Parts: sequence; structure tokens; C-alpha cells
Amino acid sequence: MHPTQEALPRSETHLSRSHMRAEVISGLTRRPKVIPSKYFYDERGSRLFDAITELDEYYPTRTEQAIMEANVAEMVARIGPKSLLVEYGSGSSRKTRILLDHLPDLAAYVPIDISREHLLRTAADLSAAYPGLNVLPVCADYTSGFALPEVEGPIERVVVYFPGSTIGNFEPGEARAFLEHVAEVAGRGGALLIGVDLQKDPAIIEAAYNDKKGVTAAFNKNILAHINRELDAGFDLDRFGHLAFYDAEHGRIEMRLVSLSDQCVRIGSTRIPFREHEPVLTEYSYKYSLEGFAALAAAAEFEVVKVWTDPERLFSVQYLEVR
Ligand code: TRP
Repeated sequence: MHPTQEALPRSETHLSRSHMRAEVISGLTRRPKVIPSKYFYDERGSRLFDAITELDEYYPTRTEQAIMEANVAEMVARIGPKSLLVEYGSGSSRKTRILLDHLPDLAAYVPIDISREHLLRTAADLSAAYPGLNVLPVCADYTSGFALPEVEGPIERVVVYFPGSTIGNFEPGEARAFLEHVAEVAGRGGALLIGVDLQKDPAIIEAAYNDKKGVTAAFNKNILAHINRELDAGFDLDRFGHLAFYDAEHGRIEMRLVSLSDQCVRIGSTRIPFREHEPVLTEYSYKYSLEGFAALAAAAEFEVVKVWTDPERLFSVQYLEVR
């Protein structure tokens, strides 16, 4: 078993808190105001997101899962024997199990995640469930640099797996840079299996981000609770509203928190003024057309060689080869 790489030295919670403070204050002193979406995922945020994936209105997770199940034979035929399967942001690797069930001949499976505990637990679970599988976890922020672990024996190709349409949370320039980085990691003969949410009737998209039970609103506002706890801040969650709408021109859902009154919020010793109705952007979620995504892939030296969708064409899983 290889040692797991460190994203941050273990003792650096202090450093990361001052980093968070700097990022949050810098975002909230900009116009328009923003909060980086990575701060959604404290423990409660991760639980709320899991609850979102179970909502009737939130189609992406269950649709992607169904596409994987319906087409796994074709997918594993493309991945082929002796591949190195590298998953970015592996989390609990739930969708990956669909692939692993049909890939007895992998060189190794490399889950990459920034959450060390989650990563190691998942790696241990997978090793137990798949005794013949070589699991080599890497603890890293996949948007910065990391090295692939060394593997004994031949590797036929590197295949990166990036499910969940997380690509949609990047702005187009970032998405292209990210795909270029993946192409470099996969190298000649390498490939990318990626989940991509599709453009569709805006009513379906908006419902997915404005559920009736209010789980999405609670998730969006939890970013403020996370800041309150980590940065000794005074956000009153009742004085902010959840706002998510689809911008058809940009093909993206825009998640915002809106100040419900004129107010001044303390973060440590800093005071941030908010006007009534002033929005704070928390996340974009881009939805692609098949042509639009193919063009993005081409700009990053990838070629889309296969697209699987559901019967309603809500979501897609795509297989891209490095050109
Ligand atoms: N990355 C998820 C997505 O784009 C996150 C998400 C789901 C989300 N619902 C949300 C982010 C509501 C902010 C608010 O689908």
C-alpha cells in the first residue's frame, strides 16, 4: 500500500482557517458579492447535499446512476483490461462501484479526494468489497497538482472518472483548463469518463434547485452557518433568502443568497454591509448542449467518442479520448 499524499500538513487547521477568512472576506468585499462554493461542505452541508440527491425534484444523481447501470457493459468495454482508473473527487465512490463490479482486471483504482477521513474510509470499504482490487488513495485537491502513485506491472491506459456533473460548477474558462489538466494526467491513449448535465426545459432545472421541502434552501444557507462557526461570524440565517434561477443565455443555474434587509454582519473583527435585496453568489451550475460540450472537449485536446443518455435526455455520461 502506498503512503497517501498530503494536501496540507495535518497541523495546518490554523492556516486553513486564516485562508478561509481571507477568501470569504475578499469575496464579500467584491461587487457583486461571492462566497466560494467549496465552503458548502462542512459536515452538515455534506449531509444536506446527500438529502438533495434523494429529492424527487433533483434528477441529476438518480439519472446518472441509471445511465451507468444501463450502459456499464459498453463502458467497461471501452475502459478495457489493465487500465488505471483514477477518480477525481471520489467521495463515497457510489457510482464507481457500478464500474468496479464489471472491471476485474484493473491495474489499480486511484480515488482522489480532499477529505482525508472520507477517502480512507471509502478506500478501506472498497478493498474489503473487492479483494482482488489494488486501491491506491491520494489525498489531494485535484484542482492543484498531484502525482499518480506508482503501480507495479503494466498499465494499458489511464482512464479518469469524473461523475456528478461537477464540471458544470466550473466557469467555461476553468472547465477548459481543468480538462487540459486531465488530458495531461491521462496522457497519450488516455481517456475520460465524465457526467455532464444537459440543457433542457428551464422549469425542470429550476425545480431541481428549488425543492418544495426546502432542503436546497437549507443547504445554500448552511454556507453562512459554516462561516459563523469557523470564522466567529454573526450571520442571521433568517435574514437571508435562497434564490436559484436559470440563465438561459449562459446555460447556467445561478445560486444566490439574498439579504432580506439592510444589515451589517460581523466576521471576526471585520464588518460587512449588505443592502436590502443585495445578492451573494454561491455557485453556478452550467448545463451543456451535446454540441457545446463537444466543442469544450475539443478545445482541451479531447474527442468525444461516445455519449450515453437517459430516454428523456436529462443527463449524459460521455467517454472522451485524448487526441
Ligand atoms: N454541485 C451541485 C449542482 O450543481 C450542487 C448543488 C445542488 C447546489 N443544489 C444546490 C449548490 C443548491 C447550491 C445550491 O447540482
